[in-house]
Amino acid sequence: MRIESPREFERLGAVRIYGLQKVYELDAGPDSATQEEEDSVVRRVSSEAINSIERQMAIVVPVRNERLKLIEGVLVGIPHDCLVIVVSNSPREPVDKFYLEQEAIKNYCRFTRKQVVVVHQKDPGIAAAFAAAGYTEILDDKDLVRNGKAEGMIMGTILAKLMGRKYVGFVDSDNYFPGAVNEYVKEYAAGFHINQSDYSMVRISWHSKPKVVENSLYFAKWGRSSRHSNMFLNRLVGHHTGFETEIVKTGNAGEHALTVELAMGIDYATGYAVETFHYVHLLEKYGAILGEGDDASAPASDMHHKVKISQIESRNPHLHESKGDEHVEDMIAASLSTIYHSRLCPESLREEIEQDLQRRHYLKEGDQLAPMRVYKSLDRMDFNVFGDKASAVIKVSGQTHTTVAPGATASAPAAASTSSSSA
Ligand code: GDP
Ligand code: CO
Repeated sequence: MRIESPREFERLGAVRIYGLQKVYELDAGPDSATQEEEDSVVRRVSSEAINSIERQMAIVVPVRNERLKLIEGVLVGIPHDCLVIVVSNSPREPVDKFYLEQEAIKNYCRFTRKQVVVVHQKDPGIAAAFAAAGYTEILDDKDLVRNGKAEGMIMGTILAKLMGRKYVGFVDSDNYFPGAVNEYVKEYAAGFHINQSDYSMVRISWHSKPKVVENSLYFAKWGRSSRHSNMFLNRLVGHHTGFETEIVKTGNAGEHALTVELAMGIDYATGYAVETFHYVHLLEKYGAILGEGDDASAPASDMHHKVKISQIESRNPHLHESKGDEHVEDMIAASLSTIYHSRLCPESLREEIEQDLQRRHYLKEGDQLAPMRVYKSLDRMDFNVFGDKASAVIKVSGQTHTTVAPGATASAPAAASTSSSSA
């Protein structure tokens, strides 16, 4: 891959937010290609360098009731050496959609030998592992993992660690273009290669999103929701640096990846807020900023690690399953809520957020913006206990050798919570 070097960055404490990087070539050739002089404007990342990251990466694919053809297309796009972790929250009644997903994936793995772990979000074995490890906040009143994409992502993250991967990336399962999925993963790898740090994050900004407008295709760049999140995140950054900025372009990036070490150390918001909250929380935790009303005894920022956030502009158009536009307002409110309720948010910005939401009739005057549920970081749980319990229920499809305890076969197929192995 040939990729632009970031032209600028904002530094807050240990956090560096790099400016958006353009991709110039999706494939810039192997190491042995003709020697080129290193250029300070663009970086060449060889296919070997990308592959060596892919071999250490898990890609988590959250699924809820998607069409099998779409899920399969996403798997087609994920590079072979990545471990795929499908976390499904699809219904099991009246039709066992999860069973159909498992069958389709198992079949697909027979052809590709791809390593795929399939788990159901409501797997009682994994819920029990969370409980035993002391991470009960993710469980609902039936002692199963709560619904939601964020909860599925958290589950995928801890499984990536369990499977010994160093990086974890996310791609939605409703993407129409396998080529776009492939590109995202390559960009994650290129980002990690360029920003070698144990605390690194790569976020994708879609180049365009095709829409039909007056009977012809229009390639829109920014959705309403990301425009809002970016604008207010930039205000937050600008407030603390004292300089107006437009550095943040990926406030809503569903497509993102991070080192497992960083993923284990950060808190997670739920619902539509999860991606915006990454920025807010990274600044809270590593930005060395005192919020309004904080005294010197406020939780100290961790300054020992360099936290690097890369933003890469993908080239493929992004097209996912259309589920209607009605949740855009909720998305905006959820994203802004994470900024609004942060201890780093100055009063003036709070007022701006309120006014913005009132103008769009989302919030009535006098009403308060509801805070989002936040899960504390995964490193508070006893990981060894989790691993002991959870590895008994995890199996990998498509491998000749499974990494799993043999006694783990689920008894009844309808209750089988993990995919069966092809070994
Ligand atoms: P949008 O793209 O932001 O409009 O949201 P989607 O409805 O497409 O959801 C994003 C991704 O998360 C898709 O791949 C969904 O299948 C998946 N997803 C949605 N809800 C859940 C859930 O409760 N659990 C899991 N594991 N995945 C979910
Ligand atoms: Co979608």
